[in-house]
Order: sequence, then structure tokens, then C-alpha cells
Amino acid sequence: MKKLTVLSIVAASLLLVGCGESSTGAEAKAAAETKVEAPAAVEKTKEAVAEKATEVKEAVAEKAAAATAAVAATATAAVEKTKEAASAVADKATEAVAAATGPDGKALFAKCAGCHGADGKTAALGKSAVIAGQAAADLETKIHGYKAGTLNTAGMGALMKGQVAAYSDADIKAVATYISGL
Ligand code: HEC
Repeated sequence: MKKLTVLSIVAASLLLVGCGESSTGAEAKAAAETKVEAPAAVEKTKEAVAEKATEVKEAVAEKAAAATAAVAATATAAVEKTKEAASAVADKATEAVAAATGPDGKALFAKCAGCHGADGKTAALGKSAVIAGQAAADLETKIHGYKAGTLNTAGMGALMKGQVAAYSDADIKAVATYISGL
């Protein structure tokens, strides 16, 4: 009985030592594996971060290019608009200067009034149409026709040619505009 007890104790201690050893070995192995796996995981993470960074970089570059193009287009449009506005202002100024310094339609009509009436509503010498209120462009064409000797509506074209022979293009435009407004 005593012998058996001693044997049991020895066996138990041997088992214990064995178990302790084996469990320590497994832990060490697991630790070693973790150590090996850890650098691989870090590598993977690094790669993923690098990839994302490249993607973000590209996306930002694309967005920046698009924004630059949009700004350039807007700027070009604005410059065009400004140019147009400036040229419109210049045109208006030129027109205003021409109106202020150009031939005086009213003064040019003075000698016409004798036959066509001060209000332009008389049929000149009982022959012509009423000229007041006709479209300026039509009057201009007719007066040019008389000046050139190509218009003779009532057989008195030659008489009208004498009336407007000395009128310049600007004079004709001015008097036509005046008659049209009568
Ligand atoms: C001496 C009179 C007389 C005077 C001055 C005169 N005209 Fe006339 N006008 C006529 C007669 C006549 C006609 C018709 C001519 C024809 O046979 O085509 C006419 C025709 C016209 C017509 C064409 C009308 C139409 O619709 O057919 C116009 C425009 C006109 N005259 C403008 C003028 C202007 C502008 C002046 C001044 C620069 C002027 N006339 C001075 C006698 C006159």
C-alpha cells in the first residue's frame, strides 16, 4: 500500500511535469507563428494604404483638372461677354457721335418742303406719292434711285435728280430718317 502510494505520486509528478512542458511548448509555437504572421499583416496593410493613397491621389488630380477646366471655361466666357459688352458700348458711342455730328435731316429737308409740304404730306406738283411716314430704308432707296437717274415714277425723275444730286450717302440717310419720322 505504501509502495503504491509512492509510485502514484511519482507518476503524478511525471505527468504534471510532462503536461507543463508540453503546454509551454504549444504556447511558444503559437507565439512564434503569430510573430511570423504579424509582418505579413503589416505588409498587407501597407499595400492597402498605398493603393488607397494612389486612388485618392488620382481622384483628386481628376477633380482638380475638371475644376481647372471649368474655371477656364467660365473665365473665357466672361472675357467674351466683356468684349461683347465693350464693343456694344463702342458701337453705341460711335452711333451717338454720328447722330450728334452727322448731317441734320431736318435742315436737309427744308428745300424739299416747298413741293412735298413741311409735314411731307403733300403730293409734290400733284404727281408724287406722300413721302411722310414711309420707311426710312425705302425712302433712302428711292432718293438714291433719283440721284443715280434710275427712278422715274411719274415722269419727273429728272426733276428729283436735280433736288438730291448734291446729297451724300450720309445726307440721304439723314433726310430719309427725318421724312420717315414726319
Ligand atoms: C420742285 C418740287 C420738288 C422738290 C423741291 C422735291 N421733290 Fe421730291 N418729288 C417731286 C416730284 C414731282 C416727284 C415724283 C418724281 C417721279 O416722277 O418719280 C417726287 C418724288 C419724290 C420721292 C418719291 C416718292 C414716292 O414714294 O414715289 C421722294 C422720296 C422725294 N421726292 C423726296 C424728296 C426730297 C428728299 C426732296 C428734298 C431734297 C425733294 N423730294 C424735293 C417734286 C419735288
